[in-house]
Amino acid sequence: MKRKEWVIKIASDKSNDLFEFFAIHNLTSFYSETNPSEKEEIFHVYTEDEELIKELVKKFEVSYKSILSDDEDWLAVWRKNLKIVRIDEDLYVNPDPERLAEPSKGIVIKVNLGMAFGTGEHETTKLAASFLKKALKRGMKVCDVGCGTGILSAIAMKLGASKVLAVDMDKNAIKQAKETARLNGVKYEVKKSDLLAQVHAKFDLYVANIVFDVLIKLLPQLPKGALFIASGIDKPRSNDFAKSCEEHGFQITEKRCENEWCAFLIKT
Ligand SMILES: C[S@@+](CC[C@H](N)C(=O)[O-])C[C@H]1O[C@@H](n2cnc3c(N)ncnc32)[C@H](O)[C@@H]1O
Repeated sequence: MKRKEWVIKIASDKSNDLFEFFAIHNLTSFYSETNPSEKEEIFHVYTEDEELIKELVKKFEVSYKSILSDDEDWLAVWRKNLKIVRIDEDLYVNPDPERLAEPSKGIVIKVNLGMAFGTGEHETTKLAASFLKKALKRGMKVCDVGCGTGILSAIAMKLGASKVLAVDMDKNAIKQAKETARLNGVKYEVKKSDLLAQVHAKFDLYVANIVFDVLIKLLPQLPKGALFIASGIDKPRSNDFAKSCEEHGFQITEKRCENEWCAFLIKT
C-alpha cells in the first residue's frame, strides 16, 4: 500500500517541541534522522491528515515536502532504528520484543511495536521513571495520570507497587496501556478519565508526565499527604511550576532536568 510521507526539516534545538506536538496529537507513525551538520533533524512523518501537517508547518515555520512511499519500506526503516532504551540504572525499555535481545539483569519493560509516546526514549519519561525508582517503596498504591502506553504503570508494578491505576483521556492510550500490562505479565487497572475526574480512591503516589498547562490543572485535584512526580515541564517554565506547587502548600523535594525538560518530586 502507498502512504503519504511528509519529510520535515527542523532545527535540532526545536525537535523536542515537534516531538511533543506529535505526542499531543497522537501521531505515532514517524521516525527521525539527524542531518550530518547536526544542526538539523529530519522527520519522516506518515499521515493522511494534511490539516495537521499544515498546522505543524505554520507553528514551527519549517520546510517540508510530501512523497508517496510503500508501507513496507517505512516500517522496515523505522523498525531497524529501534533499539533497547536505557532509561535509568538497571531499567530498560524494549520497543521491539520480537526482535531485540534484552539485557540479562535489571528491569526490562516491553512495549508493543508501533506504540505512541512512551517507548521511554523521551527525556520526560526517563525523568519520571528515575523518580519512580527513587520514591516508590514496596506496597505503595500508585496512580499514573496520562498513562499513554502505560510504561510508567508497568515500571511501578515491577518496582513493587501493590496497586496501580492508569488513567488517560485518549482511547488509544487505554488500549495500549492494557496491552503493555499483558506484555509484561503485570496487572493494573486502566480507566478513561480526564485527569482525576473518575479517580475516587486516594493513592500514596501520583505520577504524571503530561505538559505544563495540564499539570497545572492537576495540582488542585491532588489530595494532601501524597507523593507526586510531575514530569513534562519545559525548562523555561519550571520556576513557574515550582511556584504554583508552593501556592498549593506542596513541598518540593527534588527537581531534575535533562536537556530542555524538567521533573519534580513533590510532597502534597
Ligand atoms: C506525554 S504522554 C505520557 C505518556 C506516558 N505516561 C509516558 O511517560 O511515556 C501524555 C499522556 O497524557 C494524556 N493526557 C493529556 N491530557 C490529559 C488529561 N487531561 N487527562 C488524562 N490524560 C491526559 C495524553 O493522552 C497522553 O497519553
